[in-house]
Amino acid sequence: MQKLSCIACGKKFEIGENRVVCECGGLLDVIQPIEELKKLDLKKVFDERLGSCELPNASGVWRYRELLFDTKKIISRYEGNTRLYPSEKLSAELGVELFFKHEGENPTGSFKDRGMTTALTIGYAAGCQNFVCASTGNTSASLASYCSVGSLNGIVIIPNGKIALGKLSQALAFGAKVLQIDGNFDVAMELVNKLGEKFDPESPTDSVYVLNSVNPFRIEGQKTIIFEILQQLNWNAPDWIILPAGNLGNTSAFGKAISEAFKLGLIERKPRIAAVQAVGANPFFKYFDNGWEKFEAMKNPETIATAIKIGNPQSFLRARRAIEETNGVVLEVSENEIMDAKATIDAAGIGCEPASACSLAGIRQLAKNGVIQKNERVVGILTGHLLKDPDATINYHAGELAGIDSARANQPQQIEASVKAFLATIK
Ligand code: F0G
Repeated sequence: MQKLSCIACGKKFEIGENRVVCECGGLLDVIQPIEELKKLDLKKVFDERLGSCELPNASGVWRYRELLFDTKKIISRYEGNTRLYPSEKLSAELGVELFFKHEGENPTGSFKDRGMTTALTIGYAAGCQNFVCASTGNTSASLASYCSVGSLNGIVIIPNGKIALGKLSQALAFGAKVLQIDGNFDVAMELVNKLGEKFDPESPTDSVYVLNSVNPFRIEGQKTIIFEILQQLNWNAPDWIILPAGNLGNTSAFGKAISEAFKLGLIERKPRIAAVQAVGANPFFKYFDNGWEKFEAMKNPETIATAIKIGNPQSFLRARRAIEETNGVVLEVSENEIMDAKATIDAAGIGCEPASACSLAGIRQLAKNGVIQKNERVVGILTGHLLKDPDATINYHAGELAGIDSARANQPQQIEASVKAFLATIK
């Protein structure tokens, strides 16, 4: 049986004790019973479930439920099952074997759905009715959808005017209560943490249950991005897995999944994680760069990749462990590198939102400076869908983003409605 353990004081809790954080305020980990799990032929179990049309096996999260936790009723939108695209053109250009794992293909268009189904399922099982998150947009869209599916109250707290249009429209359309604050994500997160402190495990119906990635069950769900990649590669670990990093929940989940898969013998070696931040929102990069000497939150993070515009990431300790355990690296990329990488992924016919493009921007840097070596197998995670942030895309192609050179701009052409004018455009 899985247990919860505090990463700060080590105190243990049962899963059924309805804890989101420890009494001391520390974050919790779900501890997997590795020795018990080793007795199962997990690869066979997971492979046999592929192709199922029914829940839970049809979900790319719950398919791996032995490595998550036990539960009865799940709240699911058949999430996961996202594609792993080989990228031949970029592979040739960069001299590596490159794949993109497109998490924007989840039901609400981002990887958040994987952690939402697991954390919401636990909160629901605990008897909670009210669910809250702070968000730069995608978590709010996901929470809103899953709360509606489960007939539960979804409440999202977002920075006023600072989240991408597609995400705001989802939260409203799915019917969540949308609360805007005058302050950035970090301020919203602080408020949610205070609400979390008031959570009473003894009377869950009167409390609000926190669905940010401080919640350990979010991390468990997001581990399945790694399990699914490994299964898609026939359980051969890639050399590198590269992802954008904001609040650092996903980086933490990736480290935990890789360590567990390795301990369980599902893979023979650990892929290295590269976590990529935007230059203007880079507290984790600075922490890595100063040899883990000192973590300092940033006051006014700024980046066009609004999903990761975060100055005080909650999971920095868990994420540090992920980097250390996988011999990983943390890097920073400029606004121009992000938008150029996005335009490249978009023009390849795959597409993603700005934050996701940090993956390719990071791969380019690491391949250039030889950290990623020739012919290594690399998986870049695309965390969100192209349609999440139409403003960023349109303004890029119009050449209207300050400081961005729009080198790959594709502008609409105005023509007269005649065959002659049409033919002139394809000469
Ligand atoms: N990419 C996208 C598209 C995101 O929405 C986020 C986080 C990240 C990357 C970074 O992941 O926080 O686990 O390091 N979005 C959160 C939100 C903060 O509220 O939607 P992380």
